[in-house]
Amino acid sequence: MPPNPDWYDPLWYKDAIIYQIHVKAFFDANDDGVGDFPGLTSKLDYLRDLGVTALWLLPFYPSPLRDDGYDISDYRNINPTYGTMPEFRTFVREAHRRGLKIITELVINHTSDQHPWFQRARRARLGSRLRDFYVWSDTDQKFLGTPIIFMDTEKSNWAWDPVAKAYYWHRFYSHQPDLNFDTPRVYRAIENVMRFWLDLGVDGMRLDAVPYLVEREGTSNENLPETHAILKRLRAEMDRRYQARMLLAEANQWPEDVRHYFGEGDECHMAFHFPLMPRIFMAVASEDRHPITAIMRRTPEIPANCQWAVFLRNHDELTLAMVTDSERDYLWSYYATDPRMRLNLGIRRRLTPLMENDRRRLELLHGIMFSMPGTPVMYYGDEIGMGDNVFLGDRDGVRTPMQWSPDRNGGFSRADPARLYLPPVMDAVYGFQAVNVEAQSRSPSSLLNWLKQLIAVRRQHPGFGRGTLEFLYPENRRVLAYLRRHEGRVILCVANLARSPQAVELDLSAFPDHIPVEMTGRSPFPRIGAAPYLLTLQALSFFWFLLEPPPDAV
Ligand code: NOJ
Repeated sequence: MPPNPDWYDPLWYKDAIIYQIHVKAFFDANDDGVGDFPGLTSKLDYLRDLGVTALWLLPFYPSPLRDDGYDISDYRNINPTYGTMPEFRTFVREAHRRGLKIITELVINHTSDQHPWFQRARRARLGSRLRDFYVWSDTDQKFLGTPIIFMDTEKSNWAWDPVAKAYYWHRFYSHQPDLNFDTPRVYRAIENVMRFWLDLGVDGMRLDAVPYLVEREGTSNENLPETHAILKRLRAEMDRRYQARMLLAEANQWPEDVRHYFGEGDECHMAFHFPLMPRIFMAVASEDRHPITAIMRRTPEIPANCQWAVFLRNHDELTLAMVTDSERDYLWSYYATDPRMRLNLGIRRRLTPLMENDRRRLELLHGIMFSMPGTPVMYYGDEIGMGDNVFLGDRDGVRTPMQWSPDRNGGFSRADPARLYLPPVMDAVYGFQAVNVEAQSRSPSSLLNWLKQLIAVRRQHPGFGRGTLEFLYPENRRVLAYLRRHEGRVILCVANLARSPQAVELDLSAFPDHIPVEMTGRSPFPRIGAAPYLLTLQALSFFWFLLEPPPDAV
């Protein structure tokens, strides 16, 4: 029985702290060089102790692994390298016992070209139901207004299939044909896949690449009403049969377009805030709060049962799709000086190297991520400051083995090092000898222990996940300040984005005689008086305060 009393709260995702994991990268229990479900299960205590409350697993299904598992060839099974179905069930049971929710991937835009649906379709008669599982054309000149996402590798969204003697549509790699949602059987097949995993106890599903489900000539083929109709149907089915489950949209779009993925509270429960992410990096690089305040002002209100997912890094390149061309050039020149660090419209680096291993910046960024409206999503390894390897291909450089100890293979696996699915990071600064869980667990001042404390503080205050957002606009633009209000309680967050100490005067006249109590150490600060409230901040630092009303007002 899960220990957490809020376990059955249908809005559990609002108070969650999500941790993103690749099964293959976490821990190898059978010494074959690849992480697996028994390995992950054996590390659940570590994750519970870190304080996270939900685990998002990257695809673990049978796959040719040409897109690291997002190219699925069987939706209802486990890739044998990662384990078996009984091991998956054990994992879910053990995670739930520790109060950890499980979020898996529902990849519905495309399959692998090795999926039996595609193999059947390419051989099936023109116009037949089997053929129509995918989007075919005899010309590659249709839908020309559609952007190419993997622009470094793909030249067109069409690929020629010599067996079908036709072109098929693909928004990602050419070995990932897009499913055709105009065929009712495709929708039914996908709904069955969703039910299959929900029946196994999965609590939430990340909807991969969800803006691209339907194609219509003369449009950009993104965010179409028909796509939203499909998502609403999936949601209705989820609500009809299950309790306290969640859909999380991966829609790398502008806030006003992402807004539609929440519907009227009847589509996705959550969606990633893609435009906010690069702007946090931009604000720190330019020592100016404007990128953050501007994008949050542009972010529409969302229905009461919905929630943003806030993240800094993930398994993909740091996407710069949702910034202007000049902003992208600025971010590239600041954070990706070596051309090898660039991929498509993004930067393929991990958080700690991006922050030049500067502990102050890492703390600042976590302080922002954990206090912006929404649910934070952490990427495995970032809690210990893991590095990356830009010499590996595609996005593999940010998907290297978790670093547990200074032992062989960083304690990830006892296999021969040559057998590992990817080499661990081994350089002098970020290598597993210097950066690992064992060492950081023993050091009270480590990033890992600092983060545990921050997570513990955040978990005590539902206002972080559920509160409103109100910016203060002090004259000093290097300081980002905002209020989070929830059920009568007020949290004040103040961050110095500059590389030098700053003073700031805040207008807190709405809170006369309140005492700001710093939340990590519970120290009271001077009472709020008639004058603007003066704070001084170290370079790259932040404060979280609870504004305590004067005793006589209580
Ligand atoms: C989005 C995933 O995050 C990414 O890793 C993948 O390559 C694409 N979808 C295509 O499946």
